[in-house]
Amino acid sequence: MFCWAQHFIAVQNIIESVKFKCLADDLCSEAVEFQVFFNDHVSNDFNTLFKSLPCDGQYFAAAVPGSFHGRLFPKASLHFAHSSYSLQWLSRVPKELLDKKSPAWNKGRIYYIGAPSEVFEAYSAQFPKDMESFLNSRAQELVNGGLIIPCRPVGIPPSQCPIIVTIDLLGATLMDMVNMGLVSKDKVDSFNFPRYNPTPQELRSLIDRNGCFSIEKMEPLVRKTGLENESKNQNHILHLRAAWEGQIKGHFGSEIIDELFDRYKKKLLESPIFSQSNKN
Ligand SMILES: C[S@@+](CC[C@H](N)C(=O)[O-])C[C@H]1O[C@@H](n2cnc3c(N)ncnc32)[C@H](O)[C@@H]1O
Repeated sequence: MFCWAQHFIAVQNIIESVKFKCLADDLCSEAVEFQVFFNDHVSNDFNTLFKSLPCDGQYFAAAVPGSFHGRLFPKASLHFAHSSYSLQWLSRVPKELLDKKSPAWNKGRIYYIGAPSEVFEAYSAQFPKDMESFLNSRAQELVNGGLIIPCRPVGIPPSQCPIIVTIDLLGATLMDMVNMGLVSKDKVDSFNFPRYNPTPQELRSLIDRNGCFSIEKMEPLVRKTGLENESKNQNHILHLRAAWEGQIKGHFGSEIIDELFDRYKKKLLESPIFSQSNKN
């Protein structure tokens, strides 16, 4: 996990809200103590997280390694769960995408833009399975809790959704490298990005069907992601690299990473989708 600052702010907001409620409703005779568990895959650099923790001592911190698609905590042991920008990651690449005989074999692409409909269908069929296991696990662990889950913006087709286009451009960069003989075509054909951004309607019906949680609020979160100046662009690329490098290295090896991201940066800067501002 890499954007710890977002988590620290979220944790601080939660702690302040709980303290405020305790005070306002006269609920707690003693000062409430907080323990915060940070979760990510076992391969995550938790030491960097611990070194970056705010030093105001507002809570006791611990890390919980493992996939959030399964159980991470004992039953009824959490009071609040916060997930801001991770559930779009699928637990696995849908198996049809890896079968050369399947109509969903995603030749020459790493994602679903411009792919046969079977490819998109395989992605969108995996997401409900993952959500179901995520919601069921959290429902057992939580005494009470809340979640924030990212969606695709309403009314914008995937081919115009900036985050989806950024992945497509990574695929195009890999294909450029195939054409230059730097990467094997077979490797690209068998690589598929394991993430899926649902529409708000899809998410609503999955949560309703699961029945363990209710929806308090759904709202568009508009933030500026258009590339602007050199230092912001560099940060944006580093952000994407931090999020994706593990997946790419695991499939292609580490040798191609620097060159891939240099080429990718150029492609991203040339893309019309990033010359506009105010995307989400
Ligand atoms: C885009 S980053 C966002 C991190 C950011 N701090 C946040 O949640 O707002 C997504 C993070 O989710 C983690 N992640 C993805 N799938 C996961 C899973 N199944 N279990 C635990 N962590 C996962 C990734 O390793 C990555 O660090």
